[in-house]
Amino acid sequence: MSKFWIVLLLLLVVAVLAGAGVGGHQVSKTNTFCIACHAYEKVAWDHGEHYHTDCIDCHTKGFVDDKIQGARKLYLMFTGQNNPHNDPSGRSYPQITSDNCQGCHMGPEVAESDPVFFEEHTAFMEGGGLCLDCHADTGHDPELHALKTEAPRFAGE
Ligand code: HEC
Ligand code: HEC
Ligand code: HEC
Ligand code: HEC
Repeated sequence: MSKFWIVLLLLLVVAVLAGAGVGGHQVSKTNTFCIACHAYEKVAWDHGEHYHTDCIDCHTKGFVDDKIQGARKLYLMFTGQNNPHNDPSGRSYPQITSDNCQGCHMGPEVAESDPVFFEEHTAFMEGGGLCLDCHADTGHDPELHALKTEAPRFAGE
């Protein structure tokens, strides 16, 4: 093979991989992807107040961290260390979730369109609390979410 063809072949491989990377990222951002593993959260989200908001909008920790966590989850699942139908999760990141709430609800547009709400809520946040301290039910219906730990087939696990 001449140098030209080798270079062309390498360029093609890079192009395909880059395409797959972008495509893979698109897929891994969708609700459908999250739901594949988080069945209970899906139901609790359907019946929550934020069924109109995508999973990733509340749960992102930024592109790089999302990819690392995603890879970790896939690893845990495919090595049988975590049952995706149970996912007791345990680790949660309320500070990050709370920061993501602010992205939609406490931006400059809101300060302008709803100054009363904005001022009241700025005061609420001054003590360094979290949105979730007062809005714990946001995102997932708490009763449905609790079914996860109550399911008889997981009792004793
Ligand atoms: C391949 C299965 C799988 C997919 C797909 C998946 N998760 Fe997870 N997720 C898990 C597992 C397993 C855990 C528990 C991880 C652990 O033990 O720390 C988890 C934990 C979590 C947690 C708890 C905090 C944390 O990060 O540990 C959140 C929030 C979460 N996932 C959100 C999402 C969102 C949003 C998506 C879609 C972008 C998603 N997950 C896609 C398997 C998955
Ligand atoms: C409006 C914001 C919001 C949306 C949208 C949302 N969640 Fe959540 N989610 C929360 C909050 C708040 C918590 C509890 C605090 C925390 O762990 O960060 C939570 C907790 C979780 C947990 C951890 C549960 C546990 O038992 O520890 C998982 C997993 C999760 N969500 C997955 C999802 C998936 C999958 C979707 C989409 C189907 C979704 N969430 C949509 C706000 C949201
Ligand atoms: C992607 C943007 C987005 C994110 C992220 C988001 N929300 Fe919302 N939220 C909305 C929209 C849109 C509505 C509906 C607005 C309306 O009814 O005026 C809403 C409504 C609400 C309401 C009023 C619900 C009702 O029906 O009474 C509360 C409270 C709320 N959000 C809190 C939160 C909290 C807490 C978080 C973080 C866990 C969060 N939101 C994350 C977009 C978002
Ligand atoms: C100290 C408790 C407290 C904290 C912390 C708090 N809120 Fe609220 N929030 C309330 C109360 C009480 C109401 C209902 C009364 C009202 O609308 O003023 C409310 C109402 C809302 C509404 C609905 C407003 C409407 O017009 O219907 C949204 C959206 C909201 N909060 C988002 C947030 C977000 C995002 C955070 C975090 C930045 C947050 N809240 C932190 C107590 C709190």
